[in-house]
Amino acid sequence: MNALLVLAVLVTVIIYLLYVLTTRKFDYWKKRNVPYHKPWPLLGNYAKYILQLEYPGHTIQKLCHKFKDQPYFGTYYGTEPALVITSPDVLKQVLTKDFYYVNGRESSDYCGREVTTHNVFFNAGDKWKIVRQNLTPLFTSAKMRNMFHLIETRAHVFEDMIDYETGMSKTIEARRFSARFTMDCICSCAFGVEANTMAPIQGDDTNPFRFMGNQIFEISYARGFKIVFRAIWPSIFYGLGYQLFPPAVDQFFGKLLKGVLESRNYEPSSRNDFIDLILGFKKEDVITGDSITSMKTGESKKITMKVDDELLLSQCIMFFAAGYETSAGTTSYTLYELAKNPEAQKRAAAEVDAFLRRHNNKINYDIVHELPFLEACVYEVLRMYPVLGNLTREVMDNYVLPTGLQLDKGVRIHVPIYHIHHNPEYFPDPFSFQPERFLPENKDKIKPNTFYPFGAGPRLCLGLRFAKMQVIAGLVTVLKKYRMELSDTMPRNLIFDARTFLTQPKDQGIDLRFIEREGWESRKYVRA
Ligand code: HEM
Ligand SMILES: *[C@@H]1O[C@H](CO)[C@@H](O)[C@H](O)[C@H]1NC(C)=O
Repeated sequence: MNALLVLAVLVTVIIYLLYVLTTRKFDYWKKRNVPYHKPWPLLGNYAKYILQLEYPGHTIQKLCHKFKDQPYFGTYYGTEPALVITSPDVLKQVLTKDFYYVNGRESSDYCGREVTTHNVFFNAGDKWKIVRQNLTPLFTSAKMRNMFHLIETRAHVFEDMIDYETGMSKTIEARRFSARFTMDCICSCAFGVEANTMAPIQGDDTNPFRFMGNQIFEISYARGFKIVFRAIWPSIFYGLGYQLFPPAVDQFFGKLLKGVLESRNYEPSSRNDFIDLILGFKKEDVITGDSITSMKTGESKKITMKVDDELLLSQCIMFFAAGYETSAGTTSYTLYELAKNPEAQKRAAAEVDAFLRRHNNKINYDIVHELPFLEACVYEVLRMYPVLGNLTREVMDNYVLPTGLQLDKGVRIHVPIYHIHHNPEYFPDPFSFQPERFLPENKDKIKPNTFYPFGAGPRLCLGLRFAKMQVIAGLVTVLKKYRMELSDTMPRNLIFDARTFLTQPKDQGIDLRFIEREGWESRKYVRA
């Protein structure tokens, strides 16, 4: 009897302690007079996303609908306070003008716990600043133009691959299909290696790059759980010995990098690629840059950082990861929307045909600005299907907004990209595909700070130019020969997966029928 009583008391105490522990920050927004959503213990306002029942872009969108007239409002991401900002002006302030205070992405203090997260995407503060500054020269327009010959040869291989695959089956799964092209591009341009991802797949798929890609972007409940757990409670996550990414990834890229460096005898080549840049770093042993505090004080303060193998390896993995999946998704969503919108498809194809006629069936870097309609289609797709439907920032130094709101270090900022891109005030009839919105003559009708396909401010996507170049090259290669239709089983509206932070269709690919267009023979690439 006594024992039972003790047990009952113990259970009550434990439940009570858990309750206190998981709700102790729940007065954060009330104390600051910020309108907020009433949270649930442990799950806060993101229950559906945390339980992997709903794509995060949608979860946040619903939260936004309740506070339509507020510039921002408070939520609890699990147990942690997060400020959701919807006002374009406040977003500009926070993402750009006051960047110093909110320069972190998420769980910034824990980036060093894994090789794969120890890079410019995850890092914050000085570590982020100095690496970002040193990687930026890789991505100038001039560099892209110099690199384009590599993309051009990849496009030739893609041309052959499409013919081969459509010979096997008229229905193509555009997502995996596009990824074979973009993976090959990034491996060739960044590492100077032949990934062979466009070679026919016979029997079991043994391509190691594709295998690594699947490891990094695994879609499963186990991985979804890890992503959320790390994002909300990183100290417990790493305390329990979890890792977001499997160690096989570091091992594979470690070997790859070593092999490439050796094959160049540790001397920069004339390729001017990522490996050359790294070799430059290695020679100096340190990299130099400005301290992030320069952004606060306005005084220039130089700092240096030691270059070790892990630093280089983690950036290398990041280029691979950021480089292919994002662009493959965008390419396949563009083909999907063109399949649904035959008029737009005709116009895009006509533009491609005219470009090839003008340039004698060769592509060059001008594809990124001589195809305004196709480019507008890609932007419209990025509006409807932003690769990151939600963007996060972390307050890194106590911060006071111009409104007087005080935020402590560690507080999270959520930018509801999917919601903003579907706000009818900014984009009328937001669920319809209207590439005209992004044509040069209409571009200035778009309200500033309402379109964030590549993020904003100093953390803007580093690979933006590269992304545009490879996505458009891929689209030109498809459109010049094929017309697309949805396959019979392909729905006209997609449900997004809740288990990944990328905007991806749930439990299905993008199945399209590829039909040969008339006159394609006159548009075959001319090869050197
Ligand atoms: C269509 C393709 C792509 C899209 C839509 C995309 C989108 C984004 C977005 C939204 C961010 C977050 C920006 C922010 O926090 O403000 C980002 C960051 C980043 N992206 Fe991309 N990206 C694409 C392709 C690429 C490619 C091809 C590369 C590299 C070759 C790349 C490298 C990066 C890097 C390094 C960052 C981190 C920047 C930082 O935190 O300083 N991305 N990208
Ligand atoms: C939003 O996206 C990021 C990935 O950039 C993810 O880590 C974060 O936890 C997501 N969820 C929310 C609710 O912000």
